[in-house]
Amino acid sequence: MSKKNVLSDYVLNLAESATLKMSQLARDLKSEGKDVISLSVGEPDFDTPKFIIDAAKQALDDGYTHYTPVPGLVEYREAIVKKLKRDNGLDYGIANIVVSNGAKQSISNLCQAMLNKDDDVIIFTPYWVSYIEIVKLAGGNPICVEASVENDYKVTAEQVKAVMHDKVKFVLFSSPCNPTGSVYTREELKAIADVIAPYENTYIISDEIYEHIVYSGEHVSIAENKNVADRTIVVNGMSKGFAMTGWRLGYIAAPKEIASACAKIQGQVTSGATAFGQKAAAIALETETDEPALMKDVFLKRRDMVITELSKIEGLKLSVPQGAFYIFPDCSNFFGKSIDGVVIENSDVLAEQILDKTYVATVSGAAFGAPNCIRLSYAASEENLMDACRRLQDFFGSLS
Ligand SMILES: Cc1ncc(COP(=O)(O)O)c(C=O)c1O
Repeated sequence: MSKKNVLSDYVLNLAESATLKMSQLARDLKSEGKDVISLSVGEPDFDTPKFIIDAAKQALDDGYTHYTPVPGLVEYREAIVKKLKRDNGLDYGIANIVVSNGAKQSISNLCQAMLNKDDDVIIFTPYWVSYIEIVKLAGGNPICVEASVENDYKVTAEQVKAVMHDKVKFVLFSSPCNPTGSVYTREELKAIADVIAPYENTYIISDEIYEHIVYSGEHVSIAENKNVADRTIVVNGMSKGFAMTGWRLGYIAAPKEIASACAKIQGQVTSGATAFGQKAAAIALETETDEPALMKDVFLKRRDMVITELSKIEGLKLSVPQGAFYIFPDCSNFFGKSIDGVVIENSDVLAEQILDKTYVATVSGAAFGAPNCIRLSYAASEENLMDACRRLQDFFGSLS
């Protein structure tokens, strides 16, 4: 008698996180003794600044080892409120803030809280891998609006206007963007806000997790536009700017009913985030520190180095990222070429062959909704980046 499949239809159709999958493949090859350079990871290669670690140790000593209120410790939420005012000019109270186990959970809570089956969600594309799957998990219907390399991977207000309608539940994007490194300017965000403003039922989810990694100009939140402020949800967290990926701390600033709904969901699923982590994160936000800026300076130096080296590969189309720590070259000029009899049909095959032949781990752009591209993270040492660039130059040079 055949056994019924134990797994749900949902999980059978769910795409595995391409970035995590590639990182695992790279780790496996490394454990076999291969000289792997991993440019697939989405995390700073720095350790968390010492003053934050010390604050967590102190919090443990002070007894912060218990359950926390579901939306977060009051002192951390107060620190977030102050940070949003100080850094972003945004006015929120603690009732608007919900702390989660990472911004990923924040986005998941929002989708579960806001979406009904088949609700339309506009997603700026290329997008962060998990947006699509999280939206689909909540029953939403993603509408991908594609930005091109020629426009530095930025979606224009005109493009948004062309797909907007009364029933769009929210518009979701990140600036700075993972995977493209694009940073929307104040003018571009205002133009997009002006398009969305007349649609009274449409919200904006603005993922600002890379806020501290902007190389030119400044980070701007679309929430500063008064015509959409009360319908904008800011998502942020500690992972990228403070090198705190493993602490799992993210948060939202949202209209009260949405914040309460997210807390209600989180209360049934995971409860509040780790106590001593929140205590330390509050201190991170309240301390005047140049640590995020120092890390950004290092990223900038590496970006310039990698861009210089990749520019030597004829046929690769590059946009110079203005934020985050990724480069997202369009490789479509190489599709149809071969290596050792394997035809590079698309970015999945390309990323596989790069790993197979050079031991450089990248991520296929298909997972980000951009099948012409691959994503390279430059959160790696200069030495490794230089070595990886040389391997990539040889690889692309050997395609015929
Ligand atoms: C654009 C974007 N949003 C959210 C996240 C999730 O961050 P967290 O570590 O806080 O869950 C990531 C992580 O890679 C990201 O790149």
